[in-house]
Amino acid sequence: MLDIKLTRTTAPKAKPEDETKLGFGKKFTDHMFVMDYTEGKGWHDPRIVPYGPFALDPACVVFHYAQEIFEGMKAYRTADDTIQLFRPECNAQRMQDSADRLCIPKIPVEDYIQAVKALVDVERDWVPHTDGASLYIRPFVFATDVGLGVHASKEYIFCIICSPSGAYYAEGINPVRIYVEDEYIRAAPGLTGFTKCGGNYAASIKAGELAEEQGYAQVLWLDGVEKKYVEEVGSMNIMFKIDGKIYTAATVGTVLPGVTRRSCIELLRDWGYEVVEGKIAIADIMKAAREGKLEEVFGTGTAAVVSPVKELVWKGEHAYIGDGKIGPVTQKLYDTMTGMQWGRLPDTKGWIVP
Ligand code: COI
Repeated sequence: MLDIKLTRTTAPKAKPEDETKLGFGKKFTDHMFVMDYTEGKGWHDPRIVPYGPFALDPACVVFHYAQEIFEGMKAYRTADDTIQLFRPECNAQRMQDSADRLCIPKIPVEDYIQAVKALVDVERDWVPHTDGASLYIRPFVFATDVGLGVHASKEYIFCIICSPSGAYYAEGINPVRIYVEDEYIRAAPGLTGFTKCGGNYAASIKAGELAEEQGYAQVLWLDGVEKKYVEEVGSMNIMFKIDGKIYTAATVGTVLPGVTRRSCIELLRDWGYEVVEGKIAIADIMKAAREGKLEEVFGTGTAAVVSPVKELVWKGEHAYIGDGKIGPVTQKLYDTMTGMQWGRLPDTKGWIVP
């Protein structure tokens, strides 16, 4: 159990006036959680302090060699003003898996959850009241050793910040267009694809920019070896409904094991759908589209929730999905996930933590 010291801000910021115009990750709350790691001492000095900048030595390991990991979670306000989290233990566990790969000392699952809960409790007035908006929670750990040798740092900072946020995509729940990337890659076996490390995202920006210039919301990454099999979209996992079955990439090291992904798979299986987690060739998806069998495509992610896709383009060939509107399975998943998260539906799965 952490002994978290609280120092309240003396200069609270004004809360957002219009919660329908929050955007994603643009405004931050009054406080942040911070805890330090020192070799020999372990994690120490957990505290909640006024939100503000860090003073860091320019030779810090994180600036040069990107030894950094993060998580993404949300706190939701229900109609009776309860504030709740969604499967926080999954994020805590995934941060441990990321930490292991990046040689970062692990944060015990119960400490991670305690820290998130304590910060959200202090910031509860910042949890939006508007449907579709929530408090996005960003826990992250970074290496603070000073020195340019390439080695695991002996000192780290674990920090959690919160941002009242709306939909991740400007399109909201409206279907997005996705560019299937066939030059750059995001991950390859043995690398860090399964982790949430900043480096994965840094390496994805170039392809994302090129796609955006052509009017696509994001890129769909193919496997890094043959560039044949679909993996994930930069900020979400992706699923395809073909001829009644749901297909998605297996999480075998190159794909982020999304919490929304696994929750949607559980729901789909409960509803009687066959969900195939495996190697899915982009050529087969385009063929299914040509044959009129590509019924729905959607992304899943904490920030993205369940995001319908209306169009894919791969090597100049366009696949238009359904009638360009959100499909029935995508809608049902969106309604069920957001229903449980915002407390409109009963938590039949035991996923909600007040
Ligand atoms: C999330 O969905 O929480 C993420 O971390 C994705 C992020 C890159 C926006």
